[in-house]
Amino acid sequence: MRTSALFFASVALAARPFDNEPDTGIEAVLGGFAANKTLPPLRSIQGLPDFDWAARQYLPASNYTYYRNGAAGEWSYRNNLEVFQRFRLRPRVLVDITGVESTFSTTLLGYNFSAPFFISPCARGGNAHPDAEWNLVKGAGQGNILYMPSLYSSKPWQSIYPQRNSTGQVLFQQVYLDDPSINATRTLFQNIEAAGAKAIVLTVDSPGDGVRHRAARYGAGSANTGLSYFTWEYYQELQALTKLPLIPKGIQTVEDARLAVENGAKAIFLSNHGGRQLDTSPSSLEVALEIYQEAPEIFKQTEVYADGGVRYGIDVLKLLSLGVRAVGVGRPFMYANAYGVDGVKKVIDILKYELLNDAANLGVGDLKKVGPEFVNWKQTNQWFP
Ligand code: FNR
Ligand code: LAC
Repeated sequence: MRTSALFFASVALAARPFDNEPDTGIEAVLGGFAANKTLPPLRSIQGLPDFDWAARQYLPASNYTYYRNGAAGEWSYRNNLEVFQRFRLRPRVLVDITGVESTFSTTLLGYNFSAPFFISPCARGGNAHPDAEWNLVKGAGQGNILYMPSLYSSKPWQSIYPQRNSTGQVLFQQVYLDDPSINATRTLFQNIEAAGAKAIVLTVDSPGDGVRHRAARYGAGSANTGLSYFTWEYYQELQALTKLPLIPKGIQTVEDARLAVENGAKAIFLSNHGGRQLDTSPSSLEVALEIYQEAPEIFKQTEVYADGGVRYGIDVLKLLSLGVRAVGVGRPFMYANAYGVDGVKKVIDILKYELLNDAANLGVGDLKKVGPEFVNWKQTNQWFP
């Protein structure tokens, strides 16, 4: 009986109309800017979803659609956003939280950053701003967070590195293997090392095209097309080509997380590509839960990163509470780039502000100690013990 009630509840949820961002009054207050197709002042932006709204009014429709689209019926895109609110918090009170901000800084593969979130690799930054990825790298430098440039950046990917605030600013370079031959890949990896990247992020969730109905309507399909050849044996061959750690991005099951550890991955990246590749693939929160349930040791054996649908400080905290080390944010940075570097920096500032206050209100005095006891995982997950 319980199963069927839950089943009908989820069907009802799936069938209701979807709001791209919750109604928090932005239309009522800033609607005039929409009518004029201008960007509202940056100071009027209150949260990450506001950047989506602002970009939707302002950017040419096909430019915006490339960022916004998800695969097929966009169920994974929606689920990535909605999954966070399905799990209620278990806030603790009368805890000393006054020092929490001093616990934000973290290391990723040994490099220091000011916060446990980063800019995920997204193609075509030029859709929002002529300076494209240069704004993203500068904003990341100002906020001292990690940026992972996409190989399919609008600016040549090599040109992003000289825009760092110093050679000490750490970037992890994302790659697709356009020419999958070992020789071409060796050259690519050598160029990435020479540019100064500290790790290579190998996207493994896209061996086929993303089926993208919304994007196709606007002629804004993926920059990555065609079938590609990928196996764990090939991963080993690729890792042997470079000293840099090769991070598989797009892990979606505990089995593949285990295989990644067995294949020596120093970090793994849980992701369903922002719901852009395989519709009904799980959100990284669900994958992190699966790993926590079946093989929690993985969070200690390798660094686990995760992205998809993160829009609030509390989303970051929920992923950290399961053992995720750092959380990626994609679309909000792409939309914010319509404002240039200041917009990128504002995303970082908003997330830090929310992380601080959400941690305080949750009763978390140390981000390194936020654990699964802060979230009621059992409530909606029947299989959770
Ligand atoms: C992406 N993503 C992506 N991933 C990747 O490995 N290489 C790439 O070139 C791109 N390009 C890309 C373009 C755009 C416009 C988007 C929105 C996404 C996926 C990206 O790294 C990340 O996994 C998702 O964006 C995370 O979801 P959110 O934060 O956008 O909801
Ligand atoms: C995308 C590719 C480029 O999601 O990863 O559009």
